[in-house]
Amino acid sequence: MVSKLMTNIKFEKIDSVNNPNSIHGMYPYRGKISAIDAEQVIKQLPKKGTLLDPFCGSGTIVYEAQKRGIKAIGVELNPLAVDIARAKIYLTSKTNVIKQAEQIIKKAKAIKQFKKMPQQVLKHFHLETAKEIMRVAKFFNEMSDYMKAVFYGSVALTARGCNDYKWTSSTVGKDINPKTKIDFYEKFVYKAKKHFHPIRHNGSKIFFHDARKLTEILPRNSIDYVFTSPPYFDCLDYTAYYAKIIYTILEQDRLRIKNSLIQNYRAYTIDMKTVLNEINAVCRKKAIIIFVVGDKKVHGKVINGGQFFKEISPFKQYRIVEREYTGSSSQIFDKLNKTKRKEQIIIWTK
Ligand SMILES: C[S@@+](CC[C@H](N)C(=O)[O-])C[C@H]1O[C@@H](n2cnc3c(N)ncnc32)[C@H](O)[C@@H]1O
Repeated sequence: MVSKLMTNIKFEKIDSVNNPNSIHGMYPYRGKISAIDAEQVIKQLPKKGTLLDPFCGSGTIVYEAQKRGIKAIGVELNPLAVDIARAKIYLTSKTNVIKQAEQIIKKAKAIKQFKKMPQQVLKHFHLETAKEIMRVAKFFNEMSDYMKAVFYGSVALTARGCNDYKWTSSTVGKDINPKTKIDFYEKFVYKAKKHFHPIRHNGSKIFFHDARKLTEILPRNSIDYVFTSPPYFDCLDYTAYYAKIIYTILEQDRLRIKNSLIQNYRAYTIDMKTVLNEINAVCRKKAIIIFVVGDKKVHGKVINGGQFFKEISPFKQYRIVEREYTGSSSQIFDKLNKTKRKEQIIIWTK
């Protein structure tokens, strides 16, 4: 049955990307897969069985799988992404998120003392907005996963707002003056309400763990499907852009986090071989493994992701589907770099 799935599963090119009003619009995570794209693949998988996303990022695939009733396991090593992924899958209908958001704001407004925003990120905000962010940040450690994700999303949104909404995915951090005053408190409550999508919890789980060590957390022969978009081998920095601002505000060691991720191009092949061998160990026989990869420009040379992964995997049976890139940021990249890259989806069976 599973091998048939390998040959029959369809990957149509999707023109529209994420819906900003959905739960996935909560935070602009770098490298986020289109939820519509994820859904079209998940819809073709039988509901029985467990799905693993070893590089789950902000949890798009895990959330979409759980929404369909498939038990899903996400693994991720960037703590900001882990919070967002957990926010999506552990939220139940009983949680009164607006009340929680309002309580946090009430406490933030009442405090007398709070830390100054670090100088290197203060430049991105209107001074009054920065003070409001720091007041709310004081309660960060008390926040639920959902509220933490709302905090991240609100910081990103107000940073854009203070810069007159002129920041795009390629101009985040560009100094635009004068800074507009944005009401952080209002954005926080607004986002808590806007992205609230209760979901039936089905035992899905997010691990803050290294994909190179899957056998430490998952039993062997326990996974039926793997569906992921792995970190890119042109080494996109998942701790940059808005995440850099957030880690600085929260006084977290961004460089330590960055260095823990698969980022180093020289070690990329070895790291990915390790991950694929770990996937092999945790998958059941006949499991189906799907990697969404693509052409990448490394040191001026375009590398075909499908071919690259085919050569390093331990799996014998494979199929590669090539299609145009989805999403405007990829199109902007191609324009800037004068490239015409394609996306590949590689499907293996164990
Ligand atoms: C292309 S992104 C995945 C995005 C995700 N599909 C989403 O929709 O948000 C790749 C992810 O791999 C994570 N990553 C890098 N090295 C890792 C490792 N060793 N273990 C687990 N996750 C890792 C990065 O932090 C990043 O979030």
